This record gives sequence, C-alpha cells and structure tokens, in this order.
Amino acid sequence: MTDEIQSRGREPDSAKSTAGKLILVADDDQSIRSLLQSFLQSEGFKTLEAKSGRDVLPALTKHRPDVVIMDVRMPGMTGLEVLDQMKRAHIEDLPVLMMTAYGTSNIAIEAIQRGAYDYVTKPFELDDLLMTVRRTIDHRELARRVRAVDETIRDPLDNIIGNTSSMQHVYKTIGRIARTDATILICGDSGTGKELVAGAIHFNSHRRNGPYVKVPCASLTETLLESELFGHEAGSFTSAVKTRKGRFEMADKGTILLDEIGEMSLNTQKKLLRVLQEREFERVGSNTPIKVDTRVIAATNRSLGEDVAEGRFREDLYYRLNVIAVELPALRDRMDDVPLLVEHFLQKYRSDCPTGSPRISEEALEKLMDYDYPGNVRELENIVHRAIILARGSVITPQHIVFTGAPGKRDSDIDEQIAEKVAMGVPLRDIVAQTEKQAIEAALQQASGNRSQAAKQLGIYRRLLYAKISEYQIA
Ligand SMILES: Nc1ncnc2c1ncn2[C@@H]1O[C@H](COP(=O)(O)OP(=O)(O)OP(=O)(O)O)[C@@H](O)[C@H]1O
Ligand SMILES: [Mg+2]
Repeated sequence: MTDEIQSRGREPDSAKSTAGKLILVADDDQSIRSLLQSFLQSEGFKTLEAKSGRDVLPALTKHRPDVVIMDVRMPGMTGLEVLDQMKRAHIEDLPVLMMTAYGTSNIAIEAIQRGAYDYVTKPFELDDLLMTVRRTIDHRELARRVRAVDETIRDPLDNIIGNTSSMQHVYKTIGRIARTDATILICGDSGTGKELVAGAIHFNSHRRNGPYVKVPCASLTETLLESELFGHEAGSFTSAVKTRKGRFEMADKGTILLDEIGEMSLNTQKKLLRVLQEREFERVGSNTPIKVDTRVIAATNRSLGEDVAEGRFREDLYYRLNVIAVELPALRDRMDDVPLLVEHFLQKYRSDCPTGSPRISEEALEKLMDYDYPGNVRELENIVHRAIILARGSVITPQHIVFTGAPGKRDSDIDEQIAEKVAMGVPLRDIVAQTEKQAIEAALQQASGNRSQAAKQLGIYRRLLYAKISEYQIA
C-alpha cells in the first residue's frame, strides 16, 4: 500500500521521464488495440501494434519498443508462446506487461515465470494500466543505470579475456601483487590491455574504494604534465591562474596510473623519482612538501630497457618502477584466444545489432584467425564492432570483416606529420581541417560509402556529414 502511495506521489516526475517512449500493443482484438493506442498517445507515448502473436517478434527487432503490452489469449500463437520465443531470441531486458482475463491467476503466474514483467487483469481501468506502464519504464531505467554504475566500479579479472598460458601467467601475477603496495610496471604493445590490467590491479587491491587516477603522460607538454602531476600555486607559470591540486594529491589513499611513462621528459622523470623514494613532493611554485599515500602503476608500450641504454630514460627510475613487471603478450602470440575475444566483443556490442544477438559464421572466424593484429586486442575489438554494424542483424560473414591496419600504430606517423606542419607554419585551422577531412574519408571508406554508417561511426549527424563532404569536396 505504501508503495502505491509513493508511486502516486512521484507521478509528475515519472511522466516526464517516460514521455515519448514507444509501446507495442499486441492483441488480436482490433477495438482493444485502438482504445489502448489512442489512450497511450494522449498520455504522450508513441505506439505501434501487432495483430497477432506471430507479428510481435518482427515488430520488436524492427522498432525496438520500450515496453510491450500483450494479450495472453491470441489465436495462432499465444502470449506465453511469444514470451518463449523472445527468450530464445535473447530479448530479455524488454519489459512485457500481459493482459489476462479475470480469474486466470494461474496463467498470470505462468506469464511471470516465463519472463513477463507484470500483468493486468481484464477488465482494467486505463489509469491503472498507465501507472503500471510508467512504473515499468522507471524500473527499467533504474536497473540500467545501476548496471552501468556496477560495470564501471567493478572491474575484476573477468573483464580480461584470455585462456592461453601467457595470460594465465598475467592473472597469477595480478593476483599476487594486487594486494601489495608495490610499484608496478605494465609493458606491452599498443592495444594489448595495459589499461585494463591497471584497472584490475586497483580494483582488486585494498585501495579499491579509494581514487583511481590516470595521467596520460604522452599528451601533455613538460610544464603541463608537471602541474598535472604535482599541482601548482597561482602565478607559478603563465596559465596558472588559480592554485590547483595535482593528480598525486587526488590519488591519495588510492592508485595513480602513469600511462605511457616512456614519453616523460628527463626533467619530470627526476621529480617523479623523488616522489617514489620519499613519498613527498611540492606543488609547482611552492616550497611546502606534501605527503601522499599513493600506489603507483606505470604503463608503457616502449622498451624502457632500450631507452635506458640510449639515455632517454633514467636508469634509477627504471629500477624503481620495475619492481614488479607485468608483460602483456601481443595478440598474434596468443591466437588461441581470438574466438573467446570475438565472443566477448559480440556480447559487448550486441546493442548495435538489430536482433540484439549478433552471430558470426565459421568462415568469418577463420578470416579473423588468419591475421597478425599489429593493433592487438583493440584492433580486433574495432573489427568485430564494425562487422556487427555492417552485418545489420544478419550473420557476420567474411565480407563484413574489414582490416584497416593498427589503430594505434600509426599514431606516431600522424604526430610527426602534424609536428612538421606546425614547423612549416601551417595555421591551426588548416591542420584541424585536414585532419577532419582525413577522418571523414577513412570513415566513408570503412563504411563502404554508406553515409549513415560513416556518420554514426564518427558520432555526428548525417546532415553535418553531408555538409562536410561538400565543404571538403570529398568524392
Ligand atoms: N584481454 C582483453 N580482454 C578483453 N578486452 C581487452 C583485452 N585486452 C584489451 N582489451 C580491450 O582492448 C582495448 C584496448 O585496451 P587498453 O586500452 O587496455 O590497451 P593499452 O595496452 O592500454 O593500449 P595503448 O598502449 O594503445 O594505450 C580496450 O577496449 C580493452 O577493453
Ligand atoms: Mg593505454
């Protein structure tokens, strides 16, 4: 009863969050279909209808409604049979409200057991139905949000896929070191999962409830990186307007990931060494030492040993960091894991497949097994994601598998090209425009000329894509 009163009290809020949702009304009785649809529309919902049980599944895959209201008794295929069919098609988090006849509670119970979310007994008041629909949508949104939060907080080993012995070795190392405070160096080529492993270490350590702070060392200039790491006092350099905490301070009682540490300048390396030795530092422009309790994880895709030999990396810092090393294997050296990873990514991106359960053919999998993955797992992930989009709900075949080269490997070339343009005095506006044009061309090529898909891939509206195509005169 209290539940009921509370939901009534929340109604205005709920009405706002549920407006515009799409509801499928499935009933063989034409008069019920039109009554429900016009009522729901007057309440701000969008609707569509299915005249029989057989029409429901095609309507779901085509229109992806938010809620289904379905009669149990329909000739040909009953509502209960539709529920079974939905389960077989793995359409499971779509709430279905069943309409059952008065006095048939056993059927209502059976419907819930077969996966229906709730039911209403005929005859019902439209207002009661409305409340049930709104509550259903609210619950579903809430469940989704909880799941999303869950997935970001919990980052245990079961997100890292791989069964080969080299990966087993990685898991054992993580297991042994996670609960210590030892400094860790994670090495591996681009896209092998260094960041994933760093996260797993933090979230399996006693610091898991503390902050997890990442610093991308490669993308910042020396001055900015130092102020990012250690913070700064107002006025300590030109753009330092306000006093600011650094990432080391933010990571107190938690973990800091120094990503791409091989790119750090020798100067900054020296300051970092002191933090590792003395666990204290000063903000840029200050003399007051600050103490922190932070676990340091560093990651690199370079061979720091070589960098040390060539004088690009401090030897003393290397030994401090390299207390425990986790070496991630290249994907080409653990090809037996490819099918598992493919399955994982099919699940990860299943919402981009119209049926919600993407499938892959033997031949396509063979094609994936016959490639050397310079971009490692990240590249495989991109290929599978793209294949799901290209296949549009049908089985993924070799033609959907497109190799476009390592996503990360060419970064340094691009960086060099940009540095060269800057040196030549090309204005920023033109550099950005050229890069934008290249990105659009790449997207169009990868989507085999399909503009909607290219726009989706780039995360822009199709109209903006058209405008850019004509602006840059892209053929
Ligand atoms: N073993 C794995 N299991 C599942 N997903 C993985 C695995 N390894 C990498 N990935 C996925 O591949 C992508 C790249 O991984 P990550 O960012 O950890 O790589 P990285 O080694 O840090 O690469 P880079 O050096 O380019 O920064 C991510 O989306 C990650 O989830
Ligand atoms: Mg990384």
